[in-house]
Amino acid sequence: MPDASTLLEVTLRWMHFVAGITWIGLLYFFNLVNVPLMKALDGPTKGKVIPILMPKALWWFRHAAWATVLVGWIYYAFLIVPGDPAGDTHHVVVVQLVVSLLAWAAIYALLSPLKGALNKGPVLAVIIGVVALVQAILIAKLTGGEGHSSRAVSIGVGGGMGIVMMLNVWGIIWRSQKKIIAWTAENAAKGTPIPPESAMLARRAFLASRTNAWLSLPMLFFMATASHGATIVGPWFGAR
Ligand code: HEM
Repeated sequence: MPDASTLLEVTLRWMHFVAGITWIGLLYFFNLVNVPLMKALDGPTKGKVIPILMPKALWWFRHAAWATVLVGWIYYAFLIVPGDPAGDTHHVVVVQLVVSLLAWAAIYALLSPLKGALNKGPVLAVIIGVVALVQAILIAKLTGGEGHSSRAVSIGVGGGMGIVMMLNVWGIIWRSQKKIIAWTAENAAKGTPIPPESAMLARRAFLASRTNAWLSLPMLFFMATASHGATIVGPWFGAR
């Protein structure tokens, strides 16, 4: 029988994969399939489809999001970081959380007004891209360097993006979609007019979901480089 720590590592890794595939799979469904579908449907059909499709899809989506991040974070904080050859590095866990919360606060502020240039997709893409880059550089600088393992820094950077993505799900997407689904169901059932605010919430949820779809690419890159790419990312982080 494998020893307890190997069993724990494999179990955490398996749970992380199952939750991560469920979350990112639905994220790509929403962005690549559901957005064009909703554009093609007329009002009455949307009124039938949304109250059935979205509650179920968003239930799995938002719960897979926190499960992926929680299991990944436990793996990172209790297995990867303590194994970092640079010795006592518990501060890196705090650095990842604080820098990621600040990055999310910036993204939340950018997606709030939805006016003028801050309602143009390409403009927001560039600004949010800079925020994500600054987040990655700060985490790499504050947790990397001589003696640190690129495995720990990779997950520090990739996991930080995962935390921002999870906060987008619970802090923007689900809060907006919850209201839109209720209004759409009420409108289909009783003909109650859908409030004009619904369009702004749908736009904000769409932009946050697009942000997550793009962030998932570098996030998965750093997940993969953790145990397979030290020679690639090690030099970036000044780590081994
Ligand atoms: C956004 C969602 C995420 C997805 C889809 C995801 C996916 C993955 C995948 C596929 C791997 C395996 C890589 C490999 O073995 O090649 C992995 C590894 C890992 N992930 Fe994530 N991850 C996510 C977020 C996070 C977060 C937020 C953290 C922690 C803060 C985290 C911590 C870890 C750790 C510690 C490993 C193991 C690395 C190793 O053994 O070297 N992940 N993740």
